[in-house]
Amino acid sequence: MSSTTSTSAGLTALQVMQDAPVIPVIVLNDVAHAVPMARALVAGGVRMLEVTLRTPQALACIEAIAREVPEAVVGAGTVRSRADAQSAARAGARFAVSPGYTSAVGQACRDVGLALLPGVATGSEIMMAQEDGFTELKFFPAMQAGGPAMLKAWSGPFFDVRFCPTGGVSLQNAAEFLALPNVVCVGGSWLVPADAMAAGDWARITQLAADTVALRK
Ligand code: 3PG
Repeated sequence: MSSTTSTSAGLTALQVMQDAPVIPVIVLNDVAHAVPMARALVAGGVRMLEVTLRTPQALACIEAIAREVPEAVVGAGTVRSRADAQSAARAGARFAVSPGYTSAVGQACRDVGLALLPGVATGSEIMMAQEDGFTELKFFPAMQAGGPAMLKAWSGPFFDVRFCPTGGVSLQNAAEFLALPNVVCVGGSWLVPADAMAAGDWARITQLAADTVALRK
């Protein structure tokens, strides 16, 4: 089964990547922030939302967004184990993003019907993900692991793989990544600054989303 095959939730990794030029990487410390933050991103044109499983509140935040913001498609980030995949799916996540790749995580996501965007940083990791049928991959950490030059080098041997570079990507360098033929979208935390979230400055988050969406036009 390929990652482009529909999961039971009907969503593919490619669809997650194609919806907007950016997948925001979101760290939520307060459940009360989840819904207004999600609405702010949707208002700016970004619907695929990666809520990272890095805080005790993350699963409750995914639940709140899934329940109260139907215009958004919420996913879980930092999925590193079968248990992560199971709890993300139970909370209402529709897709998963992992910082690295193991066959166990790939299989767990399939078992619970989550489209997976697996993280890779080397050629061997790409080959392992491909062996398991995944051809849309997150390049992480993108800047630290070689940036656009690395993606250009991979475009030869891995001509059939498409990437979402994440890690060190910003509004300033996103266009350079998006111009590469093997890049479908980028990921990053810059759309959801911790200070804007703490201040409830949802208008700033909407503006950051809209500025990023404009990069693809
Ligand atoms: C992460 O997992 O933290 C993401 O890759 C975000 O990286 P960034 O903060 O550099 O965008």
